[in-house]
Amino acid sequence: MASQAELTHLKNDEPLEHVLEVIEADGAVIVEDCFSDQVINQILSELMPYAEKSGSNRTHISPAIAAFFGEYTRHVTGLASKSPTFVAEVLLHPLMLDIADSVLGPNCAGIQVNVAHMLVVGPGAEAQFPHRDEDVWVHMPQPSPEMELSSVTALCDFTTEIGATRVVPGSHRWELDRQPEPHEFANAEMPAGSRVIYLGSTIHGAGTNSTKVQHRPAFHLSYMLGWLRSEENNCLATPPDIARSLPRRAQELLGYDIHYAIDDGGGYLGALDLKIPADMLASGEL
Ligand SMILES: [Fe+2]
Repeated sequence: MASQAELTHLKNDEPLEHVLEVIEADGAVIVEDCFSDQVINQILSELMPYAEKSGSNRTHISPAIAAFFGEYTRHVTGLASKSPTFVAEVLLHPLMLDIADSVLGPNCAGIQVNVAHMLVVGPGAEAQFPHRDEDVWVHMPQPSPEMELSSVTALCDFTTEIGATRVVPGSHRWELDRQPEPHEFANAEMPAGSRVIYLGSTIHGAGTNSTKVQHRPAFHLSYMLGWLRSEENNCLATPPDIARSLPRRAQELLGYDIHYAIDDGGGYLGALDLKIPADMLASGEL
């Protein structure tokens, strides 16, 4: 019988080059010790009230989306507008940004946030169907460059029982119609404060939460080529009145920058009144 697939575990102080080597080989990596218990507890105290308020029976865009997320998962969206600690520690996490710049930088003039959500997967939640995150841009001709770098950050210890993310190492190189066998999934078991970081082209999905009472809180945070349209409308999720107080880099990542490709022979995207929105936040024009 074939042995079960596994993911490589690295630490947050691992040299970038080695992290990139693992991602290139496997399409995914686990990075431990990204966030301390203190940071996690602070973020949970800022965000769990929203999760409790939203409940798991929110209305989704369509029945297909509702089925994808299931009936036991609570969502908190637009995290940058709700948790200053999330912005400072997670959105601007240096290693993740360095990886995103390395993976996506060659095919854009700058990266942007795709989506920043907290998902609290409740007991009884079934495994998500295996998917590639980049399939949100299904109209992109294939083969395409890497479009997205995603991450799931564990806000509790991730075990197989509680529904650790399931990842198929190497699937970023597969033919698009190849389906993974059960032994080709690796369970991203990792302590709280770790992240599993994976390419948009890597097959994965949340595992089944087979516990009776435990919830599985985690962040999904992904970055994308700056010229793509994002899954979350980030400028509306973090409107100017809130964005104004955020660090400039966070504003830029949330869509208040322009995608300036003039130096590459292209044009620019995302301007407002022919200006850079982040400049307008700084000057008070916005
Ligand atoms: Fe996903």
